Amino acid sequence: MAQRVALITGGGKRIGAATASLLMEHGWFVLIHVRNSVVEAQQILEDFEQKNGSKAPAEILQADLNLDEDITSLLQVVSGHEMVEKSGGLHALIHNASIYSSQDYDSVSLETLRLNTRLHIEVPFVLTQGLLPQLRSANGCVIGMIDTSLGLAWKGLSHYTSSKAGLRQLMMNLAGDLAPEIRVNCVAPGAIIAADWESEHFASVVEKVPLGRAGETIDVAKAVMFLLESTYISGQIINVDGGWSVSP
Ligand SMILES: NC(=O)c1ccc[n+]([C@@H]2O[C@H](COP(=O)([O-])OP(=O)(O)OC[C@H]3O[C@@H](n4cnc5c(N)ncnc54)[C@H](OP(=O)(O)O)[C@@H]3O)[C@@H](O)[C@H]2O)c1
Repeated sequence: MAQRVALITGGGKRIGAATASLLMEHGWFVLIHVRNSVVEAQQILEDFEQKNGSKAPAEILQADLNLDEDITSLLQVVSGHEMVEKSGGLHALIHNASIYSSQDYDSVSLETLRLNTRLHIEVPFVLTQGLLPQLRSANGCVIGMIDTSLGLAWKGLSHYTSSKAGLRQLMMNLAGDLAPEIRVNCVAPGAIIAADWESEHFASVVEKVPLGRAGETIDVAKAVMFLLESTYISGQIINVDGGWSVSP
């Protein structure tokens, strides 16, 4: 069987890096997209090489997804990539790149809202659309990294949660539009790793998690891997949250 190929956005560190590493360990060739985290992404490759004694099956692709010209060149590079051509297309597209900040609703600027909707809705829409021929020919799987905010009122996060809701609905819609060739699913992490600004808030959230601890990046990566391997699952959301979303 030809080597399977994945593109993960924002794959240089944290959850994206864990996912890229797990895919490589399972024999995938991974196109690791980054904006700034080139050094961190190179470290993923070095770690693989040290552990396995062979060249990492990956390539780092840099693009600022806020820039239309960067998106255009990313699409060109991926669609014409020799591994994508050799392997019969793109087997996985993981929309992981994200921004996350907290701000009172009263003061959220239109610019902040647009940055969130751009990265969480517009970019996944355009990247998926731009890579349809490659996804179709490989019977690929698209995964949206959302979160567990569905149906709840999160203080100071309206700009973030509303845009993740858009991503969730986009993925659910595409599960219908792109069937039967392409499967589309979501992974919804709970409290996995805190952003720099939220360590106190994060600790208070973890206290409410039924499994009694924060998740690890590998927990999320394993859910992504499960969905990639599960060829009869489409239009589903897996919460990776230690039971948080069902706790009263
Ligand atoms: N961490 C959690 O506990 C948690 C909880 C719920 C949901 N999630 C979701 O799970 C996914 C991974 O979480 P995370 O915390 O690991 O993500 P993250 O660190 O917040 O962001 C992932 C990557 O997004 C990239 N990015 C941001 N703006 C970009 C832009 N304009 N162009 C291109 N790339 C850009 C960054 O790449 P560079 O570093 O290369 O600039 C960053 O490393 C996200 O979708 C997040 O919303 C995470």
